[in-house]
Amino acid sequence: MCGIVGVLGKHEVAPILVETLKRLEYRGYDSAGIATLADGRLDRRRAVGKLVNLSDLLVHDPLPGKSGIGHTRWATHGGPTVANAHPHRAGGVAVVHNGIIENYKELRAQLSGQPFESETDSETIARLCEHHIAQGLSPRDAVTRTVNALEGAFAVAFLFDGEPDLMIGARKGSPLAVGHGDGEMYLGSDAIALGPMTDRVTYLEEGDIAFLTRSGVEIRDADGKLANRDVRMIAGQATQIDKGGHKHFMAKEMFEQPTVLSECLAYYAPGDTVAIPGQSPDFTDTDRVTMVACGTAHIACQVAKYWFEQLAGLPCDVDIASEFRYREPPISGRATALFVSQSGETADTLAALRYTRDKAATILSVVNVAESSIARESDLALPIMAGVEVGVASTKAFVCQLGVLANLAILAARQKGRIDAAREAELLAQLRALPGLISQALMGEEQIRRRTAKLAQATSALFLGRGPMYPMALEGALKLKEISYIHAEGYASGELKHGPIALVDKAVPVIVLAPRDALFDKTISNMQEVMARDGRVWLVTDAVGAAQAGDGVWDTLVMPAIDPIFAPILYAIPAQLIAYHTALHKGTDVDQPRNLAKSVTVE
Ligand code: G6P
Repeated sequence: MCGIVGVLGKHEVAPILVETLKRLEYRGYDSAGIATLADGRLDRRRAVGKLVNLSDLLVHDPLPGKSGIGHTRWATHGGPTVANAHPHRAGGVAVVHNGIIENYKELRAQLSGQPFESETDSETIARLCEHHIAQGLSPRDAVTRTVNALEGAFAVAFLFDGEPDLMIGARKGSPLAVGHGDGEMYLGSDAIALGPMTDRVTYLEEGDIAFLTRSGVEIRDADGKLANRDVRMIAGQATQIDKGGHKHFMAKEMFEQPTVLSECLAYYAPGDTVAIPGQSPDFTDTDRVTMVACGTAHIACQVAKYWFEQLAGLPCDVDIASEFRYREPPISGRATALFVSQSGETADTLAALRYTRDKAATILSVVNVAESSIARESDLALPIMAGVEVGVASTKAFVCQLGVLANLAILAARQKGRIDAAREAELLAQLRALPGLISQALMGEEQIRRRTAKLAQATSALFLGRGPMYPMALEGALKLKEISYIHAEGYASGELKHGPIALVDKAVPVIVLAPRDALFDKTISNMQEVMARDGRVWLVTDAVGAAQAGDGVWDTLVMPAIDPIFAPILYAIPAQLIAYHTALHKGTDVDQPRNLAKSVTVE
C-alpha cells in the first residue's frame, strides 16, 4: 500500500505530483505529501486525510520547483498525522516509501543522535541516507549503502538538496516503475500513475536501484551491476481512469461487468472448447490444485474449488495467503499452485507463491495487472482482462476471476477425461449466457436501492448460502462490511444452527442466496428455521424459487433463472448492489472506505 511518484520535469511539478497521486489514491488515503526542489533547496507540504486536503494546502501555500516526489499513505507505523506523513526529510534528503522496513528499530538505535520527528519506519531511510552523506558519500553511494542496509519490503524515491537533476528509486518487495518522457523522467508505483505523462515504462526488478536524470536512467541490479531492463509501451486504455458518468468508480465497474466478462470469456473460449491463446495450462498429471489469495480473490478461489472438484474431480485446497506459508503445508510435486490477485502485488499472495516455488509442479496465476510481480514470477500468468479497477471493493475483477477459473476447471475436466466435447460445449454455452444475465440482474438496481433503505438501519446482518453459494454469502458479507461499515457475517446455511442462529432476532436482516440448485430445498428449510425465530429474511432467488419458498419472507429479490453451476457469478451482482446502495443510504465513502486500501503490499 501507499503510492509513490517522482518527477524530474520541465514544468512546475507540484500540480503534476498531485494529479498523479490522485491516480494512486487507491493505494491509501490516510495522508499525502509532496517535496520539491526549487533553487536547489528542498521544501515539502503534507496534509492528513484525503488528497484534497493537500491540494487545498497547496493553494494557500504553493510549492515551486521542477523536480519533486510525492506520496499517498496507508498508515502502518504511526497514525495518520502530519509528522508521520511522507515525504520524510533528514538534512538534505527527502524520501517517499511504500512498504515496511522491518529492521527500522535497530537502524534507529544506530542513528540515535539524529532528531527523529515521526513514529514511522520510513523516516529511518532518510536519516540513514543523510548520515552517509554527512560522512562524505555522494547521494548515489549513500542511497546504495542505505538500501543495502534495509530489511523488509520497499519501493523508495529520493531527492536531494543541490541536485535538481537527480532522483533515485529503489525496489525490493514493492513495485516501482520508471517512466520515460521527452526530456523528463518519472518514477511511480505503477503504470496507471504514469499514464498521463508517458506510455514508455520500465519495471524495476527486485533489488534494482534506478538513478534518474532528465536525460535518462541508469539501473543497477542487486549486485551493483549495470542492468538492461526493457522499456515497454503501455496501451493508453490500460491506464485510463474515469468514472464514465457514474457517481462512483464502484458503480462504473459494476456496470462494466457484462462487457468485460464477455471479452474475458471470448478470450479463453472463442468457440465450443477452451482454447487459451499462447501457452495453455496442463492439468493432465496434476493431482491437486492449491489455490491461495486474499480478500475477494480468496472468495473467488473458494467458489472455484467447487468447479475443480465437481467438474474435474481434482482435490482442491484453498488458503488465505497470510496463513498459508507460515503453516508450512506440504505441497505435492504434482500439484498445480494457483494464485489469484487483481493487483498482482499483494504481499502475502506473492510470498505464498514464492513458498510453492520448487515444490509444486506448476505455478499459475490469475491476475488483472499483466506486469505485476505475481504475474512475472509465475510459470504462466492468465489475464482476467477486467481493465483498470479503482474501487476498493472489487467487483468486475471478481467476476472476471470467476470467468477465468471456470474456464480452467472446464479445461482440467477435459484433460482429465471427465467431460466430453458435448458437455464442454454445454458448459461454455452456460458461461456465455452470463453477461446477458448479469445485465438483467443489474436492471434490478432500482429495486435494490429502495429496499436497502431498511438494511441501512441495521447494525448487523447475516448472509446465508449453501454449496458454492456459501462463499458468495461470505462475499456478500465482506462487501457490506467494507463499504457500509455494517457488521455482517456470511455462513453456510446448514451451519447456522450450530451457533450463529443465536444472533437471529427481528433486528438482524438475514439475506439468503438461493438459486434453484440441488440444495435449494435444504436452503429454504434453513431459511424457515430463521423465520421461525422472528428473523427478517431477504430471499434472493428466481421467480420459480420465490413461488416455491412460500410466504413469510421479509422481502424477495427476484433474479433471472440460471443453470446452477455458474450461478455464483450471477449472484455476485445482488451482493455488490446490496452493499453499494446500503452504503449510499448511509453516506459512507464507497470508493475509498475507511481504513482500507486496494493494493496491499505489506504483510
Ligand atoms: C484488498 C482489497 C480487496 C482485494 C484484496 C486482494 O483487501 O481491498 O478488494 O480483494 O486486497 O487483492 P488482490 O489485488 O490480491 O486481488
